[in-house]
Amino acid sequence: MTITSEEQLESLKRIGHVCAVARDAMAAALTPGITTQELDDIGRRILDQHGARSAPELTYDFPGATCISVNDEVAHGIPGPRVIAAGDLVNIDVSAELDGVFADTGASYLVPEGNPRLATLCRDGKRAMWEGIRAVKSGGQLADIGTAIGRFAKKNRYTLITNLASHGVGDSLHDEPGEIPTWPDRSERRRIADGLVFTVEPFLSLGGTLAEQKYADDQWTLAADGDAYTVQYEHTVVATRRGAVVVTAA
Ligand code: CO
Ligand code: CO
Repeated sequence: MTITSEEQLESLKRIGHVCAVARDAMAAALTPGITTQELDDIGRRILDQHGARSAPELTYDFPGATCISVNDEVAHGIPGPRVIAAGDLVNIDVSAELDGVFADTGASYLVPEGNPRLATLCRDGKRAMWEGIRAVKSGGQLADIGTAIGRFAKKNRYTLITNLASHGVGDSLHDEPGEIPTWPDRSERRRIADGLVFTVEPFLSLGGTLAEQKYADDQWTLAADGDAYTVQYEHTVVATRRGAVVVTAA
């Protein structure tokens, strides 16, 4: 989606807010003993209350309202009977549609008392996302996002997953202009159109570079190569001349 009117921007901000509220409510409930199904139910209830619909369910028939990925699972984990334990690293990804407009947000959380190394990974995953968001400016290069994130990852000795990209969002969950690299990519030559709506969602990892199918009988859940611990932080943004407007902050 490319924003061309104030009404469009307001619609995007509405669904961005709903996604953020669902994400934060699920995060607040993330304590040992809760199942990923119960977490998903909390997210679904919030979407329902706002008249919003789960984007992965609507678009891909995903078996859940939200994606919840635990420990060595990196993305697209299916909510179910799994019980959250102290020290788990949990990624919650919420995307939804309201009045025909889609937004997408995600974050990783370490359930106390977690491994300090993983706490640092979470802190730095968030920083990596903000490095990318700060590189957004209409008229600039899409490649600047991956370049900035790549520089941060290299300097701090992390790896990036390079087959899970950011993407356009708005008129659909995965919208024009398609995939946007969150890693250095010399073949990326496109400019950022004014008003372009897309996600910034790097996957920062302790050694992983590719996400692959985790379980033989589940075509959704992805893990990093070597089961490396990986975090993802994601916001939906609008590109303007003065930089990115984040619509999924709160
Ligand atoms: Co997402
Ligand atoms: Co996304």
